[in-house]
Formats: sequence, structure tokens, C-alpha cells
Amino acid sequence: MATILDGTSRTFSEYLLLPNLTSKATAVDRIDLRADVARYRKGEEPCPLRINLPMASAIMQAVSHDGMAIALAREGGLSFLFASQSVESQVEMVRRVKNYKAGFVTSDSNLTPEHSLADVLALKKRTGHSTIAITGDGTPNGTLLGIVTSRDYRVSRTPMDAKVGSFMTPFDHLVYAYEGIGLSEANDLIWDRKINQLPVITRDRRLVGMVFRKDYDEHKENPDELLDADKRLMTGAGINTRDYAVRVPALLDAGADVLCIDSSDGFTEWQAETLQWIRKTYGSEVKVSGGNIVDAEGFRYLVDAGADFVKVGIGGGSICITREQKGIGRGQASAVLEVAAARDAYFKETGIYVPICSDGGIVYDYHMTLALAMGADFLMLGRYFARFDESPTRRLMVNGSYVKEYWGEGSNRARNWQRYDDGGEGGRMAFEEGVDSYVPYAGKLKDNLDATVSKVRATLVSCGASSLAELRERARLTVVSSTSIVEGGAHDVILKESERRS
Ligand code: IMP
Repeated sequence: MATILDGTSRTFSEYLLLPNLTSKATAVDRIDLRADVARYRKGEEPCPLRINLPMASAIMQAVSHDGMAIALAREGGLSFLFASQSVESQVEMVRRVKNYKAGFVTSDSNLTPEHSLADVLALKKRTGHSTIAITGDGTPNGTLLGIVTSRDYRVSRTPMDAKVGSFMTPFDHLVYAYEGIGLSEANDLIWDRKINQLPVITRDRRLVGMVFRKDYDEHKENPDELLDADKRLMTGAGINTRDYAVRVPALLDAGADVLCIDSSDGFTEWQAETLQWIRKTYGSEVKVSGGNIVDAEGFRYLVDAGADFVKVGIGGGSICITREQKGIGRGQASAVLEVAAARDAYFKETGIYVPICSDGGIVYDYHMTLALAMGADFLMLGRYFARFDESPTRRLMVNGSYVKEYWGEGSNRARNWQRYDDGGEGGRMAFEEGVDSYVPYAGKLKDNLDATVSKVRATLVSCGASSLAELRERARLTVVSSTSIVEGGAHDVILKESERRS
């Protein structure tokens, strides 16, 4: 007969934290939110891979491309670039993150002197940018010949067919800098010379990028930025259990900092094989994780196969229909609690700490703190990040509100990138495990993250914890009844229109 586990499968909304004594010493701005992401042995702390904010963006087409990876790493978190794309395009994304220099942008509006004013206006309309670099071949890295901004022409006076070469500000009149200049030096030049943009070029005059005055505030150094030893932003990348022998070397060569096998069910021999291949080929230098699993057995299996961290969660994702389709999964809170206990037991037994990541199912900001209190070392989020400007998907107006597209990796839309017909994990798709949806548009990542992190910090203060390890140790949780859930929101009052939340 089948085994029936004791206890109910529970999720985050069924729990609340109780406050502990808040000491005067636990100030909000002194809370340490750094999180461990790779295994380490007792006595060999600190962990070889730490992130400055316990948040990772999901391995999904609709969430984690290079733009998201850059934005999140600048705030201290980590993205895992989606794996459901060709090796070449994923490698290109890794390169773009690793080559990113805050404040230095690749010129995306470029023309040649032979183009006309009409071309300038058309390009401006398409990109929304009013600074156009004029290069010999019209590419972002061609020989710099001049710049066109709206100060160089008057639409009412300059003929539409006037050649760019006749009205651009030519190279001789430009203030420029050579490659290698630091951001603060570049900004000083912008201020001292009263210019709006500074082209950066190589010694043989090829355009490298631009620094814009308007970006100044955004690009002040962020002390939490997630940087590697060479001061480059860090990024993770998703892999699969089929083409790892090709994909893994290519991603590592491009500079990926950590890999993660992307699958809804990680308790498989395919995952063990993939992890073992990576260990055999690269030893412990390469950081790689497996998942997803929802119990102690799955955790132990992946840890024994060599996983650096283990991802927890099946069926709780907002776009996920795995439970409906296959009847497989577990309430996210129950899964995290059991796997966290297994991690602690493994640490006690072997002296090796293997971090766990709670993946999916975060609906409210407070769920994040609950998951961290229940034992997650860090979190992976899809829906949360999909709502921001920095996610790769389109922003649309639907029924009078702005939304962003968000689809599951198990939806037809995501899986169409390539057909897998030859068995193995993720073999031919007979049914979907994810939906194609919209999420409410929420603006800039930084603004939202700042608000979320303030709440997480405030909760840690209430729990008398000044770090995530202290939170895990000290947190006291209680299961709530459905009636008390009602009591948790505004109730028995008539809400003003401005207070209604979607
Ligand atoms: P969310 O943060 O609740 O939106 O959940 C995101 C997580 O859902 C991802 O990190 C994946 O683990 C999982 N996921 C992504 N796509 C699918 C899918 O198509 N079906 C099931 N789960 C998915």
C-alpha cells in the first residue's frame, strides 16, 4: 500500500511569525542579508559563494535575460539566465553581463554621415534616444566620425534629405575619452565640460560606448553590488540534463559564476549524471546546483551527487499547473521545512553545509521572510521579477491597466524554442505544465526591491535577528486558521477607492 505522510501539505499563507524581543542593538540598517549559495565545510567559512541579497531571479524566458541579470546583480541578488535557448545566445547573454560596466552603455542608435535627417528622425522615433553616434559603418563599434543630437538640426529649417555629415557635430569638436577611463572620471569630464554625453573610444578611434549625464544618479556605486574577484557583475545560468557536455564548457568560458540544472523534478538519475559529469570534469571549482525536490530523500540524493545548493519546490509557481496535470507537488512551506531539517541533519552528520533555495510560490513580500525563517538560505522568484521594466517581456495595456507578459517554462510558448524528440528528461511534450499569462506591471526593479527589502529587514528586527542565520535559528512560527487569515487583512471597514489593492 502507498505511504501516506503524517501532517498536511502547507503553504506560506498558513503561517505567521511571532515577534521575539527586539534588542536596541538590532537596527534596520545593520541587518545582514547576505546568503550562502554553495556548499562549504565547517571551519572553512565563509562560504565560497555568497550573494548580498537572498534573492535569485527564476530560470525563465520571461524573467532572466542579461538585462535582468545586470539590474539584479547591481542590487546584490543573482539571476540565472534561462536555459531554454541555444547555447550561443545564452553564452552571448553571459558575456553581456560580464562585460557590463555601470554607466558605460553600448551605443544603440548609430548612423553614417551618408544618412539623411529623415533617417535621424525615424531612428529617434524607434529607439526614443536623441543622441545618435555617427560611425564609419553605422555600427556601435565603428570609427567615430561625429554625433547628432537635437541641437544639431532644426526640423523646420533643415531639409529632410540633408546628409548627416553636413550637420553633425564632427569628431574634432567632440569631447571624448579613451577606453579604460573610470566612471567617476568620466562623470567629472561631463560636469567640467558641460556636456550631456561622453563617447568612449579606443586608441584607433573606434567607438566603445557612451556615458550619459542623465544616468549619473543611477550609476553611483552601490555597496551591495554582486561582483566577482575582477569586479565584474556576477551571473548564474540554467543548464539542462541533455546538452550539458556542450553547454557547460561554453557558459563557463563566457564567465558564468554558478550553474543550476533547470527542471521541475530533480529527483532523477539524469540530474545525478549531469552533476557527476561536472564534478568529474571540473572538480569542486565549478558551482552547480540541482532540483527541484520537495523532501529529505530528494535533497540527500542530489547532495550525494555533488550539488552545491539544492532547489526546493514543485507545483507552487504562479504559472505552474504541474499539480493539476500530474498530481505531483507539495505545499511550499512543508517542502522547505522538511528539506531545511534535512540540510541541518546533513551538516551535523558530515560537517558539510549545503544551502537550499526556496523556488516559487512567493505571493506577498512577507512570504519571503517566512521562507527564510523556515530555513531557506535564499529564494528564487519568477512572478515577482517578471513585473518590472527590466524583465525581457513586452509591456501591454490590457483592460485599461499595464501588464507584462509572463509564461511558464513548461508552457508551449517556452518549449517551442526547440523540439526534444529523443526521450530523456523533458522528452516529447504531450501536455503543458505551465500557462502563458500576464502580471500587473510594477515599474522599476530597484524601487520595488527597495520597498520589499525594507519589509524583510523590519521583520528581522521584530524577530530579534540581525542576520539570516539568526532568523533561521530564532524564528517562531504559528499555523493560522482560515478565520484568522481574514483578520490579517483590512476588515470590517469600508475601504476608500485609493486603498483597494488588486
Ligand atoms: P513564481 O515565482 O511563483 O512565479 O514561480 C517561479 C518558479 O516556477 C520557477 O522558478 C520554476 O521553478 C517554476 N516554473 C517555471 N515555469 C514553470 C512551468 O511552466 N510549470 C511549472 N513550474 C514552472
